[in-house]
Amino acid sequence: MTAFSVRLTGTKYGCGGGGCGACTVMISTYEPTSKKIRHYSANACLLPICSLYGAAVTTVEGVGSTKTRIHPVQERLAKCHGSQCGFCSPGMVMSIYTLLRNNPEPTSEQMIAALAGNLCRCTGYRPILDACKTFCKESVCCQRKANGKCCLDQEGDLIDKEEKISTRLFSTDEFQPLDPTQELIFPPELMRMAENQPKRTLVFCGERMTWISPVSLDELLDLKAAHPKAPLVVGNTSVGPEMKFRGVFHPIVIAPARILDLNVVTHMDDGLTLGAACSLSLVKDILTNAISEFPEEKTKVFCAVLQQLRTLGGEQIRNVASLGGNIISRKSTSDLNPVLAASNCVLNLASKGRKRQIPLSDIFADGVGNNTITSEEILVSVHIPHSRKGEYVSAFRQAPRRENALPITNAGMRVLFEDGTDIIKDLSIFYGGAISTTICAKQTCWTLIGRHWNEQMLDEACRLLLQEIALPGSASGEKVDYKKTLIVSFFYRFFLEVLQSLKKMDPCHYPGVPMEYRSVLQDFQTKMPQSIQIYQANPSQSPQDPVGRPIMHQSGIMHATGEAVYVDDLPSVDGELFLAVVTSSRAHAKIVSIDTSEALQGPGVFDIITAHDVPATNEFYYSDDPEIIFARNKVICVGQIVCAVVADSDVHAKQAAAKVKIEYEVLEPVILTIEEAIKHNSFFEPKRKLEQGNVDQAFETVDNIIEGEIHIGGQEHFYMETQSVLAVPKGEDKEMDVYVSTQHPAIIQEMVAASLGVPANRIMCHVKRVGGAFGGKLLKTGLLASVAAVAANKTSRAVRLILSRGDDMLITGGRHPFIGKYKVGFMNDGRIRAVDTKYYINAGCTPDESILVAEVSLLKMDNAYKIPNLRCWACACKTNLPSNAAFRGFGFPQSALVTETWITGVADKTGLSPEKIREINMYKENAQTHFKQKLDPQNLIRCWNECMEKSAYYSRKTAVIEFNKQNYWKKKGIAIVPMKFPFGLGTRYLSQAAALVHIYTDGSVLLTHGGIEMGQGIHTKMIQVASRELNIPMSRIHFCETSTRTVPNACASVGSAGTDVNGMAVKDACQTLLKRLQPIINKNPKGTWNDWIKEAFEQSVSLSATGYFRGYDENMDWEKGEGQPFTYFLYGAACSEVEINCLTGDHKNLRTDIVMDIGCSINPAVDIGQIEGAFVQGIGLYTMEELKYSPEGVLCTRGPDQYKIPAVCDIPEQFSVSLLSSSQNPYAIYASKGIGEAGLFLGCSVFFALRDAVTSVRNERGLKNTFSLNSPLTAEQIRASCADDFTEMVIGIGERCLSVFG
Ligand SMILES: Cc1cc2nc3c(=O)[nH]c(=O)nc-3n(C[C@H](O)[C@H](O)[C@H](O)COP(=O)(O)OP(=O)(O)OC[C@H]3O[C@@H](n4cnc5c(N)ncnc54)[C@H](O)[C@@H]3O)c2cc1C
Ligand code: FES
Ligand code: FES
Repeated sequence: MTAFSVRLTGTKYGCGGGGCGACTVMISTYEPTSKKIRHYSANACLLPICSLYGAAVTTVEGVGSTKTRIHPVQERLAKCHGSQCGFCSPGMVMSIYTLLRNNPEPTSEQMIAALAGNLCRCTGYRPILDACKTFCKESVCCQRKANGKCCLDQEGDLIDKEEKISTRLFSTDEFQPLDPTQELIFPPELMRMAENQPKRTLVFCGERMTWISPVSLDELLDLKAAHPKAPLVVGNTSVGPEMKFRGVFHPIVIAPARILDLNVVTHMDDGLTLGAACSLSLVKDILTNAISEFPEEKTKVFCAVLQQLRTLGGEQIRNVASLGGNIISRKSTSDLNPVLAASNCVLNLASKGRKRQIPLSDIFADGVGNNTITSEEILVSVHIPHSRKGEYVSAFRQAPRRENALPITNAGMRVLFEDGTDIIKDLSIFYGGAISTTICAKQTCWTLIGRHWNEQMLDEACRLLLQEIALPGSASGEKVDYKKTLIVSFFYRFFLEVLQSLKKMDPCHYPGVPMEYRSVLQDFQTKMPQSIQIYQANPSQSPQDPVGRPIMHQSGIMHATGEAVYVDDLPSVDGELFLAVVTSSRAHAKIVSIDTSEALQGPGVFDIITAHDVPATNEFYYSDDPEIIFARNKVICVGQIVCAVVADSDVHAKQAAAKVKIEYEVLEPVILTIEEAIKHNSFFEPKRKLEQGNVDQAFETVDNIIEGEIHIGGQEHFYMETQSVLAVPKGEDKEMDVYVSTQHPAIIQEMVAASLGVPANRIMCHVKRVGGAFGGKLLKTGLLASVAAVAANKTSRAVRLILSRGDDMLITGGRHPFIGKYKVGFMNDGRIRAVDTKYYINAGCTPDESILVAEVSLLKMDNAYKIPNLRCWACACKTNLPSNAAFRGFGFPQSALVTETWITGVADKTGLSPEKIREINMYKENAQTHFKQKLDPQNLIRCWNECMEKSAYYSRKTAVIEFNKQNYWKKKGIAIVPMKFPFGLGTRYLSQAAALVHIYTDGSVLLTHGGIEMGQGIHTKMIQVASRELNIPMSRIHFCETSTRTVPNACASVGSAGTDVNGMAVKDACQTLLKRLQPIINKNPKGTWNDWIKEAFEQSVSLSATGYFRGYDENMDWEKGEGQPFTYFLYGAACSEVEINCLTGDHKNLRTDIVMDIGCSINPAVDIGQIEGAFVQGIGLYTMEELKYSPEGVLCTRGPDQYKIPAVCDIPEQFSVSLLSSSQNPYAIYASKGIGEAGLFLGCSVFFALRDAVTSVRNERGLKNTFSLNSPLTAEQIRASCADDFTEMVIGIGERCLSVFG
């Protein structure tokens, strides 16, 4: 589907495994009997092309394009600022479009459900949802009436003229209406084909595989008898990933989806029979209808199954995945099997000459899910029974993310009581996720038959369950204790649900669940978020001047139409080869031999490239330890590139790469963790230290001292576009064009030139746009570009290297994991007098920018606080993990989290609130930082106060306390966190910038500069700058690409500095041009721009100019520990409120209010987008993104299936961002401030709100009030911190009887 040959490159490839939605397309099918057309979204990356016979596929190109007509979905996504890097946009468009095809006026619930399977790493989803809301039936308001203004109350253009405040980032007046009559029709030829052609068996033979699609059950049974090993493929969501990622190969597959018997939907007296090939979406619809048709008593099983279906996968998965596939795969993570098995569902099986029925539970009877169904047997249909009087059924799941994530543990439970009593007649309990398959708690169920449904039964049940469900050492990589806790917590939840139902049945006999326990019976729901964005507008500004206005991203429409070109969209070059890397499978080992013989014989293989093929530099020394292109004699991490295969296709290259055999001799020591590095004294030098005041003396005089540490996990960049390079040798003078997805073309040029041993002037780097980078496309990209360039040089062919998501995550490293150790001395009134901290960062196997990250973490560690006596140290640990790299925030998100942790520690100890400790210690007047740089914290205080006010902090805190008093298993938490974010790159030369502006004789302007467009809207802003300077409309100015050919030696687009520095250079170039034009303008002031340009050309005035900015005067003397490494400071504050489920550790982000000082925004839509996007990335860092390594140092989390970034369900239900008004900044272009990174740290307000909720649990239960929480604060950790009888039982100390009602 995403193949090259059709040249429809709008559909993007983000993961290949159905987990990100970037490849979403719409499939339409026609059913001749009912004459119904069905439209559904699907992930192209898992759709076998053969399964689409007779179907119409609509890609983003078919929805609309700039050449024909832009579709309202595309228009609104772009104009609502719903695209930043744009890589996810085609997928988003297709999900929304498909929903609208089926339902032109959807509800907001339908809309939000439609996007559950689409990930965006840039926007934080808010603007995408804003676009969605414009299609929804009901108006969705910000619900801020309590605090004053409501978005719906505000009229007109929503500008408050007195306050000069605007809340409008787009105008709905501009939008074309959605007109369903204008949509593409289902192709009549396919309709005719479906109607006229008798259904016949289809056979497709490929290079290695045969696809057989029979039309009758008998034929299917014959085929299965002939090919018992051939899988039946319906949705391919289970077989597909196994073949793609786990090396499973099937020469024959059988596709039974067209067989009527497998698609039946029959309502019987005792239940529903559903064909095994029914999609999960269809099952969902059928059950939803059945629930409305049948009496409640009969639909308990349907409700429980539906409960699981709501969050199973995303819509794209449910639309294709089949009921039979989910059951028969027998994955431990199946959400359906436990509930279906517990509910006594029956499988109708068939094989040649034999039909039989078995209870679904039988397929798990042997405990490993292996037996019962023979390899010739197929599942025809599934019978889901009605529930009976006195029968109760429930299903539960806990996953790393609430939606579109495989469960950690799930359960299906059913109880049947003796007539009119609470005596258990029948009980079944099944769990999933715990071991390798679904498991039944048989013994427990038998033992409990005849018991009353009361607390004694509960107590015994929990103990029996823990005995019976034995989890091996480290079950599926998850902590065993958490799974065990979930096992009993789910049962407890079932217990409560049934108690409550018994009460409903007979309120006189059964008291039900006490009020304060009831809220846990409600699961968290994802609702369409309410949001508001506030910025300062200037109503008196000239309408021509675009600066300060919420202008749409320059490429917004192209993103939404899929026309935006990324590296892998570039047309193939004649003779082009594809490159696949071969990486080390050992963390520290000598390479004994590399055997490439089998790989070289693979089809289409052209060559194998190793370190010996590098003409010049293979190791780059930017410090004492090298960055390495190809490992030469030894490997120093798993994932290090050892060699590469080039072949005529991506598939051939990957197949051959898997055949390269490398023999290793393991070397000692293998150092993976910070603790191991400390033990082996393994560090990159230099270590850094800063000190002010007299720390030791201060510790002598304080009232109290706390000591502690916090562990902060790393973070994967997870840019949606993986690392991509196309190296094209030009054939003469050793010239090479390198098209590359990077933030730093100059370093790519430098590294490629050095590796090839040619001058830099032969290597031209081109970057049109980057599909997200976040710091991850710098040095690492240089190494990958060198790999491709070396291959291109050796083969004299163009070489394309596009990393798969798995390889990208394995090879490139990410944010540095941290350990922060602290000792803090303070007075009883909350004044902190002395702090001594040490940061250890896990740098991985090469230095990259780790020393710089360590330095920045020290320079920014004070966050918003004036600490009179302060000592901090940082060292970069050298380990055998892939080398970690720059990541948005560059050390600040970690070191400031350590700071905020000891702030809350002081609060715990003094009994004061964290916000009081923050206020007491906050910078309040002109001050000096711990490295003697001056700062004026006025705007910090303003942000804090405004955030307090806008969030109505104190009244909401009271409401939180009240809620917590009334709810035992659900608790809320609230936290407000201030931020000072210093802006600067530490030295002048790193912030120099240049621009080149040409004016053509038709008056159009071509602008370029050294900055890279990676979603942050830099080109849009630069066009705004040029438009203001030249006083011409933005439409006359074009930006084509960033290239080393037009702007040499450009600094990297990093550190939030792109707009600041390139803006100055663009301004300079434009002013030079304007100066040249001024005499002509003066002579003809009434003339037009075109008149002046024409005249200038005729007068031989040069219409091309460069602009230059020397950079900021920044410096830092590490010997003295002082300097001016920053030019100015951004400030902000965020208040977040959360609710946790103490039984599962799950949480919901209820509300966030952010106030941010970013000077005068050049483009509020872009800037607010940066704040929100970074904030949501921060939520990911601090609460959910968890990297897992095997004990051998192999990264286990290598795709969206295992590594969860925030999705739509994770953003706060109410989300407000206000830009601080009247803030000026004399140092940057038009008084703006660089905003790319700062918002990320504010995500920690969610971390501390969670901590607040956990604290409230612990206080209520009389647990120690000093406790430590690490980042990410996952559900597992929250559950463990909310210790109770269940957790005690799990760790074996719960001897006393459960006292579940307090
Ligand atoms: C991104 C993603 C997210 C997911 N999230 C979840 C989740 O949250 N919860 C969850 O439970 N699952 C989840 N899944 C798994 C998904 O539900 C199953 O893969 C799916 O239901 C399998 O159906 P299929 O038609 O795609 O199976 P296929 O891949 O087509 O086939 C799967 C297997 O079933 C066998 N089979 C299929 N039909 C029959 C039949 N009629 N008779 C005999 N054998 C048959 C095949 O031989 C094959 O071995 C997810 C999958 C993906 C890719
Ligand atoms: S590329 Fe298909 S879902 Fe990610
Ligand atoms: S805009 Fe969504 S991933 Fe970049």
